[in-house]
Amino acid sequence: MSDHVVCGADELDDGDHLVVELEGREIGVFRVEGEYLAYTNWCAHQGGPVCEGSLAGTTEATLDPETRDYDLDWVKEDRVLRCPWHAWEFDALTGDCLHSDQYRLVEHEARVEDGDLVVSL
Ligand code: FES
Repeated sequence: MSDHVVCGADELDDGDHLVVELEGREIGVFRVEGEYLAYTNWCAHQGGPVCEGSLAGTTEATLDPETRDYDLDWVKEDRVLRCPWHAWEFDALTGDCLHSDQYRLVEHEARVEDGDLVVSL
């Protein structure tokens, strides 16, 4: 495993992300809810550049099975990564795909050392 300084940790505000090349691989680095995260820029659907997508929220539906009434709520603001190819959504804090528990982002260790954001591959 090798460590790479990506940028100063304070260069990323909450909700920011960028894509960098490390060892010939495109890696997306994110700051979400104060956490630093890194994922391979590859979507489990059809290999799209998922980390180049937008970070926003998503709509969550709650259904009352008896009355069949439902509520729609906007949730996870600045936490949902939407792939630019076909709009699959991933939770950027956990790497989980929101549409299926069979898929997730490929995660790498990200941490702050001496004020720098370091990613290990
Ligand atoms: S390649 Fe990402 S949603 Fe299709």
